[in-house]
Order: sequence, then structure tokens, then C-alpha cells
Amino acid sequence: MRVLITGYEAAPFFKRGGLGDVLGSLPKVLWKIGIDARVVIPYYEEIREKYQSKKIGTFSVIFGKNIERIGIYKSYFPKNSKVPIYFLENKNLAVINTRGRNKKIDQFAFFDLCVAHFVLWSLTDGKWMPDLLHCNDWHTGLIPLILRKELKLSIPTLLTIHNLSYQGRGSIKVLDLLHVQDKDVKELKRGTPATEINILGEGILHTDAVSTVSPTYAREVVENSDHDPIHTFLLKRQKERGAKDEVFGILNGIDYEVWDPRHDGFLKEWYGLSDFRLGKAKNKAYLLSHLGLKNKPTFCFIGRMAHQKGLDTLMKVLPEIISLDVNIIFLGAGEKTVEASVIRAAGQYPSLIRAEFSYNERLAHHLYAGCDFILIPSHFEPCGLIQMIGMRYGTLPIASETGGLKDTIINGKNGFLFENGNKRQLLQTVTKALRVYKNSKAYTAMVRSAMETNFSWDKSALQYQALYEKIVVDYDHYGF
Ligand code: GLC
Repeated sequence: MRVLITGYEAAPFFKRGGLGDVLGSLPKVLWKIGIDARVVIPYYEEIREKYQSKKIGTFSVIFGKNIERIGIYKSYFPKNSKVPIYFLENKNLAVINTRGRNKKIDQFAFFDLCVAHFVLWSLTDGKWMPDLLHCNDWHTGLIPLILRKELKLSIPTLLTIHNLSYQGRGSIKVLDLLHVQDKDVKELKRGTPATEINILGEGILHTDAVSTVSPTYAREVVENSDHDPIHTFLLKRQKERGAKDEVFGILNGIDYEVWDPRHDGFLKEWYGLSDFRLGKAKNKAYLLSHLGLKNKPTFCFIGRMAHQKGLDTLMKVLPEIISLDVNIIFLGAGEKTVEASVIRAAGQYPSLIRAEFSYNERLAHHLYAGCDFILIPSHFEPCGLIQMIGMRYGTLPIASETGGLKDTIINGKNGFLFENGNKRQLLQTVTKALRVYKNSKAYTAMVRSAMETNFSWDKSALQYQALYEKIVVDYDHYGF
């Protein structure tokens, strides 16, 4: 089977979040089970500066009034992997547009048009003929529509939702740039003022199957516990396709080539199950001296500083947590108001709190190895990778009981769970975790069990394979 995977990021070439990790690791494990999986993303300037690639072709698209020429570059994922990655090059794809929501929408509509034409280019003369196109998140939500309605290409698609809080909502005018006709769009009617387009929603309506990144989140999305506008699209989809249509939930894995304390190139000291006490202690000593902190139980927060990540819940009980005489280290960047709350906290407790507002990969590795606990108070979490990485490094997660966090953490065994958004329970759970920490036998047992939990991609790769096969078979039977 041949699968083309697309999204806006793929590690290590370009990574801003968990989606990048998934697109960097899933194709490699798919190859191991015999799937010819390849990836296509924009050719950002940042990639051109850091990685070598070879130009293998060009094609043109019409976007608005312009004819745009696209260069196709090919490279391979590093570390002896044979997995190809294609980069689509055009001035409109060199840097991500951050000014104005419609600019970003236009930019990714353009990317979607390019991916659809790239599929056409690839199919022409039988260069490489994918059996399925695997789209990820709103950035790729228009591809199924363009493929089918504009290019009349018959290839099944899967759309995976990694994060529902980003849907690509903006002006319907983007459809004019793509030359898509109103009758081909499912959920829009033009009026004055022009109605909005919800790109993820359109993607859900046009794709052959929808999945997300954990079974619990799949249930939450369908049950609409968040009252999200996306639910309208899911209901419409179900009405069109019948009750049998479901949102599939396949848990992400982590890339064991990157995340392994036994040979992590960033670490001071490598360790495994048999010597984690000493290994973690040495990494902790290095981390704390580097940050000018004293030796105390140490917690960290790693992630996007967005409302989703629940720092508001943590901030409400921060004085009480700090009064337990612990260090807290924050790493991440994002919304200014969330960052401001962390800056305030760091200013209040300068000897116990450190914060860095960036995506510092090196520091992230040091935190996973050198901290005792990782705080994950997310309001919702489609899958979450940091709890799995934390556990692999023997750093116990303290997380809210939602989405993928619920699917990966067994409360009291390999981590701690508290009720989503409940600040009192968060404080009680931190207190409980510190009690365990002081009891050497109990703590060792929990860290062992966390490190032993299997978060490799192996099982999920097989589930993706089964889902891909099902989509292709159903498509042959019922496709248009
Ligand atoms: C998004 C989600 C996160 C998930 C990741 C990869 O970043 O917020 O929960 O782990 O995508 O699927």
C-alpha cells in the first residue's frame, strides 16, 4: 500500500507542535510494516537553510489571477531512514503567515491546491501512485474537495484531527482564489456579508473517513462535550453517510529513536530502568545548577502556552503548591495573556520558578530527564505526547483526566490524574505525589511502571494500516 501523508509540519524538518512529531514518526513505523508512506509539506525557508534536498520537478497552479510555479524538492527523513519527504516550493509557502487570520487561510488553501496538483503530477506517467491521501488538521482540510471537485481525481482520503481548537475559520472569499464553485461546497451559502468558511468542517464533509488521535477524544468529539461548532459538520456527515460512519480514535506513539534516556544525545548522563535513580539525579543536578535552582522536588510544564493547556487552573493554586517548597520550570510559548501569567508568577517566586518562552528542544530533553514531575492541567487533550515522553524518562505526569491523557495514564500506577479544571483536586494530587516521592519504595515502583509502559508506535501503526485498508476497500465498493 502507498500512502501520501500531508500536514503543515513534520519533525525534524519543521516542528511547532505535536503534529510535527507525529508526521515525523508515523511514516517511519508504517515503512516497518510494509507501507510505502511518504510525506509532503511546504518548503519553508527554514528547511531550505538547514536541510539538503534535490529538485525533482515543477508544476503550475492558478491561484486567483496568478499562475504560480511550484518546485518539487525531495529529501529523506534523517537517521538512515528511507522514507521520502517532498517539499513544495513557492514564495507563498516560504514562511507561515501570521498577520490576519484570512492571510493564513489563503496561504493554506494555496498549499492544499498545490498538494492536490502534486498528487496529479505524481500520478501522471505512473511516477508514484498513492492508494490513499492522509490529511492532518485544518491546514489540509480543502484537499479532499479540490481533488474530487476540481481535479476529478479519484483517490480516497483520511482526515485526522489533532486539535479541534484550530478550524481555519475565515472569509469564504478564499474559494474564489481556488476557483471552487459554490455548488461544490457543502456547508456554505453566500450572502451579504459573505458567510464564513470553516475549512476543517468542509474537510470533514468531503473526506472518506475522519479520525483523531485517541479513543477517548474521539468519543468526546462525537458526544460534543465542548459544544464545538464542528459538531454540526459531524452530524451532517453522519446524516449523509448513515449511522455506521464513525470517528476513529488511534492513539499516537512516540518516536523511540528520539525519545530514549538510554541514548539521548542532549543528556548529561544516560540511564535506563536499572539505573534511573542515579541517572535522573545527575541530570537533575545539572539542570538545577544550570538554572540556578536549589535541590528540591522539581515540577515542569512543557507545551504551547494556550488556554487549552490549562495553566489558568494551575495558576489558581500556584501559591499553595509553591508553599510545599518545590521548584517549577515552565517551557513553551504562545498566547500573550498566558505567558503574562507565567511571567507574573516567576516574578513573585524568583528563587523557585524559572520560565523560558520558546521552543527549546534541548531544554525540553533536559527537563524530561531532570525533573521529578510533569504538570499537564489541559482542559482538553486530543492525545498529548509529553505525558508519554515524561513517563519514558521516569518523570511522573500529574494530568487532568481527559482525552489521550486518560488513555495513557493509569492513576496511581504510572502517573496521577485529577478532575479536569478542578483546582482543589490538582492541589491534592500534587500533595499526594509529593507524599509518594518521599516514600522511596512507592516512588520507585511508580517510576518503574511509568518507564516500562509501552508507548511505541507499533500497535498504532497496525491500527492505521487496518484503517487505511478499510477506507480503500469501502471506497472501491461505494466510491463515486
Ligand atoms: C495536537 C494536540 C495533542 C496531540 C498532537 C499530536 O498538538 O493538542 O494533544 O498529541 O496534536 O496528535
